[in-house]
Amino acid sequence: MTMRIGVLTGGGDCPGLNAAIRAVVRRAESFGWEVLGFKNGWAGLLGEGDAEQMTGRSVSGILPMGGTILGTSRTNPLRKEEHVQQVMDNLQRYELGGLVAIGGDDTLSVTARLFERGVKTVGVPKTMDNDVDCTDFTIGFNSAVSIVADALDKLHTTAFSHHRVLVVEVMGRDAGWVAVVGGLAGGADYILIPEVPTKLSDVCDHLRLRRSRGKDFSIIVVSEGAEVLGVETAEAGGSVDAFGHVRLDRRAIGEVLARAIEKETGFETRVTVLGHLQRGGSPTVFDRVLATRLGVAAVDYVRDGRFGYMPALAGTQIVPVKLSDAVARSRTVDLELLEVARVFY
Ligand code: F6P
Repeated sequence: MTMRIGVLTGGGDCPGLNAAIRAVVRRAESFGWEVLGFKNGWAGLLGEGDAEQMTGRSVSGILPMGGTILGTSRTNPLRKEEHVQQVMDNLQRYELGGLVAIGGDDTLSVTARLFERGVKTVGVPKTMDNDVDCTDFTIGFNSAVSIVADALDKLHTTAFSHHRVLVVEVMGRDAGWVAVVGGLAGGADYILIPEVPTKLSDVCDHLRLRRSRGKDFSIIVVSEGAEVLGVETAEAGGSVDAFGHVRLDRRAIGEVLARAIEKETGFETRVTVLGHLQRGGSPTVFDRVLATRLGVAAVDYVRDGRFGYMPALAGTQIVPVKLSDAVARSRTVDLELLEVARVFY
């Protein structure tokens, strides 16, 4: 009988997912295997299941496309035992020899738990947040920070012309990778991240110092989850997703910080929220290559019976990492990078 494997993408989308799907399908096809693509993350394995047969033809031309042709969702089957059972039943019904789940910490936690329950799973780390542990980079991060750097280049010319402070709010949930690396690449004059609570007075003192040095514009990058002491944000909230995450954009930290700076310093201040622009468009070369290498490796792990693992990037090498290790904690910013960024404030 022909071997059949499944593939799905879960959690927030990002550029590079399609490159990973293509790699999984093409590698599996090279072994003569069949591939089923499950729709909309774990939702595609609930109920009767929602899957389509994938071939080289169905993934043709998707390498440079953003988003995911399989669709995605933040469905969490672990919330109900009957859903876990449905996932397991479907995997059996479709006679899958392995399931490749492409996702961030939430999707990979489900993948790890299903492995513990005897399901033949392999993970692939993706998230624009870059906060999955045990890998140097995740799919989607490089594309996101390239968009942030490009935005900062554009915002510099208008900030400079109007002698304004520009506050730029970026994504990144609980980790400041996007803010620090994007800010470093785009020459930010101050970076605020969740890992380092910062006083409003320190930010304002720095802005005044820049003016005294003749720099009458400034670009501040702030993570959506950053804590600024002396500034009251709106409640994070709205609908909580199935993994218990509140919506951090509801805190409106960019807007609140901009108003506080203006009040404190008298400097004219504007805010730009980059939002989902950071997750859109075509993946960078780095993400295309990373996604392709990880997708190929994931199928090789299925072939080798190396379940409960994910391929990860360590330096220039793709190495196997236990899913249980990768999801044990999330990866916060390397503060050495923030130190480097501070040299240029
Ligand atoms: O998990 C990736 C991410 O982009 C976070 O940085 C952000 O907080 C969240 O998703 C936004 O989620 P949604 O697109 O579901 O509103």
